[in-house]
Amino acid sequence: MRFVYSCFLFISCLSVKAQNNSFYKEKYRPQFHFTPPIHWMNDPNGLVYHKGEYHLFYQFNPFGNRWGHMSWGHAVSKDLLHWQHLPLAIPEEKDTMIFSGSCVTDVANSAGFATDKNQQPMVAIYTAHIEGKNQSQHIAYSLDDGRTWIKYNANPVLDLGKRDFRDPKVFWYAPHRKWVMVVVYPNEKEIKFYTSKNLKQWNLMSSFGPAGDTNGIWECPDLFEVPVKDQPGKTKWVLMHSPAPYMQYFIGEFDGEKFVNDNSNTKIYRPDYGPDYYAAITFNGLEKNQNPISIGWINNWNYANDIPTSPWKSAMSIPRKLCVKKINNEWVLIQQPVEQVKTLRQNEMTWKNITVTKNHRLPLNSQTLELEVEFTAAGETSGVRLAKDNDHFIEIGYDAKKQLLYIDRSKAGTAEFNPSFAKLSRYETAVAATTAKTIKLRIFFDKSIVEVFANEGEAVMTAQLFPEEAAGGIELFSTGKPAVFNMVKFYSLQSAR
Ligand code: FRU
Repeated sequence: MRFVYSCFLFISCLSVKAQNNSFYKEKYRPQFHFTPPIHWMNDPNGLVYHKGEYHLFYQFNPFGNRWGHMSWGHAVSKDLLHWQHLPLAIPEEKDTMIFSGSCVTDVANSAGFATDKNQQPMVAIYTAHIEGKNQSQHIAYSLDDGRTWIKYNANPVLDLGKRDFRDPKVFWYAPHRKWVMVVVYPNEKEIKFYTSKNLKQWNLMSSFGPAGDTNGIWECPDLFEVPVKDQPGKTKWVLMHSPAPYMQYFIGEFDGEKFVNDNSNTKIYRPDYGPDYYAAITFNGLEKNQNPISIGWINNWNYANDIPTSPWKSAMSIPRKLCVKKINNEWVLIQQPVEQVKTLRQNEMTWKNITVTKNHRLPLNSQTLELEVEFTAAGETSGVRLAKDNDHFIEIGYDAKKQLLYIDRSKAGTAEFNPSFAKLSRYETAVAATTAKTIKLRIFFDKSIVEVFANEGEAVMTAQLFPEEAAGGIELFSTGKPAVFNMVKFYSLQSAR
């Protein structure tokens, strides 16, 4: 029955693609950010690199364009940009929804699901959600590289009888030859660390939190080892999670049992300082010496259900390559778009040494672009406006006096769909000028998404905007004194559909 249903959904998605020649031409549809063909999506789940394929599972409603009936949608990719949509992986069942979780390749067959010795089962660990009653951790496995899934017949594998206890991220901790699970108590704002030898019996090791941002409930934890930038062989551990509706991280050490934070427990460090980045997790199964890669959900629970896109809702971030660096005695997460994104570049144009007094319009019109700019922040505020027409634009600017990078979407298009969206229109974060006294921005604009990487990834900001389709002007600006843009590089980016 489940199989028949998932085939039905898959065929209906394909036929949306085949019959509807407006597919991917819909207003606001991102072209190089992952979106589901139809229906509602939230958190990325089960990110794993398995036998040459990147698997992206995601929170998905198979029945509509708002949150509900949560199940795991599925897509695979060879390059993290071009995704092949696959049938529903793990559907909800009766009163039980399939909430967020992770996926591993059980190389040594520790759980015993393999039926012959050459198999390397994939095992998904997720939260089974019974509305208002219970959340417990379940597992399901696949013996055909993720194409079909079987729920373990002795689920749950971890049930404390709690109403809120969710989002298990499991990874292999090689030094102790064991599995580690990080999972949250959302209301208590605590991250729990469990261990297991077989993915079926779990023992509590330690706990972390509350700390940092404790305003909202805590969701979607992840713990991973990260290389230190420019120090070959040196690593730190990052504990990252989503205190609603934003994200934060801690950087320190993990000895296989306990995480110790080396940054302040009271200061808030965010992987993204914009309004629309949530529930990001990293891939399991990457090559040993590769940097971790994360993907986040580009939306915000304050208005997520109401954004004006159809027949799909929500996108995933560009996959980000991670490392850490010590800046002024604090550990900072450094994030860069994965290298592969450069393969989408077309129509490069470069300008050098433009002095901008007020506004300087570039002779371009585009809503699918990458822009690299480097400027000396001499004015009061200076930067770039995108999605520009006569009355509208989104502003990405730097306030030189306050040393703040900001993004302001208050004039960027429709905001009427939800009052919170209009309220949450301006975001800022401290960014220091480089030693050369310049600000370097790498900006991606994709129809209804802007992602900004500042100073080689020391700070990132992601925001949604809903501009008219003709609003594709690009303008450099400076208020107060003129600013010098040493370098401006434009690329239009190809669609990755
Ligand atoms: C985070 C979240 C998770 C939960 C899932 C349900 O966005 O609330 O905590 O597992 O979404 O869809």
